Amino acid sequence: MKERPVVPREEMLRQQEFMKLVCSQDQRPHSYHIVSMGCQMNERDSESIAGMLEQMGMVHAPVREDADLILYNTCCVRENAENKALGNVIWLKELKKVKPELMICVGGCMTQEKGMAAMMKARYPFIDLVYGTHNLYRLPEYVYRVLTQKRPVVEVVDTDGEIVEGMPEKRRNRFNAFVNIMYGCNNFCTYCIVPYVRGRERSRTPEAVIAECVRLQDEGAQEIMLLGQNVNSYRGGGAEFAELLQRIDRLGIPRIRFMTSHPKDLSDELIHAFGELKHLMPQLHLPVQAGSNEILRRMNRSYTREHYLDLVRRLRAVCPDIGLTSDIIVGFPGETLEQFEETMSLVRQVRFDAAYTFIYSPRKGTKAATYPDDTPYAVKSERIQRLIDLQQAIALEVLEAQVGKRETVLVEAVSTRDSHWVAGKTPRGHMVNFAGDPSLIGRFADVEITSAGRNTLRGRIINPEG
Ligand code: 5AD
Ligand code: SF4
Repeated sequence: MKERPVVPREEMLRQQEFMKLVCSQDQRPHSYHIVSMGCQMNERDSESIAGMLEQMGMVHAPVREDADLILYNTCCVRENAENKALGNVIWLKELKKVKPELMICVGGCMTQEKGMAAMMKARYPFIDLVYGTHNLYRLPEYVYRVLTQKRPVVEVVDTDGEIVEGMPEKRRNRFNAFVNIMYGCNNFCTYCIVPYVRGRERSRTPEAVIAECVRLQDEGAQEIMLLGQNVNSYRGGGAEFAELLQRIDRLGIPRIRFMTSHPKDLSDELIHAFGELKHLMPQLHLPVQAGSNEILRRMNRSYTREHYLDLVRRLRAVCPDIGLTSDIIVGFPGETLEQFEETMSLVRQVRFDAAYTFIYSPRKGTKAATYPDDTPYAVKSERIQRLIDLQQAIALEVLEAQVGKRETVLVEAVSTRDSHWVAGKTPRGHMVNFAGDPSLIGRFADVEITSAGRNTLRGRIINPEG
């Protein structure tokens, strides 16, 4: 992977000047609300967006309708994500009728799609700002231009993307942080739009990544999640991903996780890291996408079912308790019933802790969108339901096997079901709910697992500082 230029420091300083200029405007937005759609990479971007907006003098409005500025950080990986974003935006037109000073911003993967910005400019003139994925760091300049020029700004640039260091940020919490290590994707899986909207792979230097981890550790991080579309092809300053992990492990942050991995790039070194690194959690998200070699070939995944199963075997040999999760696409163009059954049998063989399942969604500009697809949608729906039922039964068995164990849980939040309960993850990534005080949030607790639900575990606290 090529090393890409970093956006010059002067440019970042120029953006800081724009933040000050926005602050000095009389008629500027005073509050903001961000709607973050899609993956963790978008969530991480939303933390940078929040940081920039706060430096422009705005405060977070928990209720969208109360905000002076509403920003949609969009996703386009499947058509329904796009429809949801566009549906929301159309609704904002109504809100703007009663609140004319409202500033509406739309950015992220959807706006980066070919032709999308022009379409939005023509059809949704009430949107004040449209930007893409490569120029997010220029948000302060664009907000300033919207305020002073009093007309919409539409700026989507078509580049391979640069690395941006030193953006402001407002993290979702102190104890559990996302850290980007690389951006973009070079794989061109035939169904996937990501390489077109996020550009070519580019890695941050190990020094930049480590410096960020050290800073987060000083601020109280207990767990970091390293992020990239394909972290296994990380190449920063000559270092490979396994080397980067070793260096991060030495910092002593209690928990390290990463996503997403590509089976074709999962190295021996990385497999062994699960047996060797003290802080690397026994959990791996390893999207398989399909169980049929013919479908994998047409998806351009560059591995076979046998290779995938061998990876699983080797991972479990090194780390028997590793929790494996996956992404699976059902109804890829031309998928026969037999080929679908191969996905079912792979799922039975691997026994994932969890799998995210999707019906194939054609994305304009991708190769698979040109493949003939004669399977009726109803058949695809039926197939995915069978897969979901199978995976749920397996997940329940995996969860039931945890009952009676003692686990150290990093408490993340008050439980969604009961305010006297809290929820947090085991090393393997299972969510456990147990009776406990909100003051436990951000801390470790030793918990005995008492029962298993459909997607989560229940437990009983043994001591609050595991
Ligand atoms: N249709 C359905 N699912 C898709 N994914 C990516 N592109 C598509 C598409 N066109 C799924 C893949 C990927 C996950 C993030 O989204 O399973 O791993
Ligand atoms: Fe898309 Fe494939 Fe890249 Fe993942 S590895 S982002 S599925 S092209």
